[in-house]
Amino acid sequence: MSMDITIWLRDVWKTYVDGERVVTALKGVNLSVKRGEIVGIQGPSGSGKSTLLKIIAGIERPDRGDVIVEGYNLNMLDENGLAMLRNTVVGYIPQDLGLIEELTIYENIELPLLIAGMPRNERRARVLSVMEYIGLKGKEKAKPSRLSGGERQRVAIARALVNTPTIILADEPTANLDWSNAVKVLELFRKIRDDFNTTIIIVSHDPRVMKYTDRSLLMCDGFLSENKLLE
Ligand SMILES: Nc1ncnc2c1ncn2[C@@H]1O[C@H](COP(=O)(O)OP(=O)(O)O)[C@@H](O)[C@H]1O
Ligand SMILES: [Mg+2]
Repeated sequence: MSMDITIWLRDVWKTYVDGERVVTALKGVNLSVKRGEIVGIQGPSGSGKSTLLKIIAGIERPDRGDVIVEGYNLNMLDENGLAMLRNTVVGYIPQDLGLIEELTIYENIELPLLIAGMPRNERRARVLSVMEYIGLKGKEKAKPSRLSGGERQRVAIARALVNTPTIILADEPTANLDWSNAVKVLELFRKIRDDFNTTIIIVSHDPRVMKYTDRSLLMCDGFLSENKLLE
């Protein structure tokens, strides 16, 4: 495998059993992403996009197939190994953002560094520098509920970025934004890639988002393929 492949999946399957309901969310997914690439994954609701991101992030495990992320074979990692992956390699931004409403913006962004055991002074320098970079300076003491949708999305991006991940996985990052704010978020992802050579996967049901990616794929009923809708 070439060194500049950062994410590699082969024949990945995932089935959920929920009472009587059995859903196969991923049906033999193959994927290969190069370092510094921004890949878009478009597809309708329920097609398996979030499941795919969670498997790459090490939040869900596949039933079958290989997942290699930054050289780690995720099937070989135990729960501690997957937690290490999430704390160091991957910045995962869930669709609901997962911000903690009781904490300030500063504290939300600091949380991954606390978990990583970074000393207080280093944490402070790192959080303030990321907040400045993302354009959140001055919002340190605000609570998430006081911010606009675009600002909340930026806090979630800052929290994902604070541990200097080499990969960012963003689940529907524009779903709750009007289009002009959506474009600002998409341009921020491009800036992050240009500045840090971060590999980024952006999942969205919105075909307009795909124009802001280098390459787009289509997820349909658990199958991932080239996106021919845009050509
Ligand atoms: N934890 C779960 N338990 C049961 N079914 C699930 C679970 N997560 C997802 N699914 C099902 O798997 C399919 C794919 O879901 P998902 O990956 O969330 O798709 P998308 O993100 O494209 O909307 C859907 O039918 C969904 O209902
Ligand atoms: Mg989803």
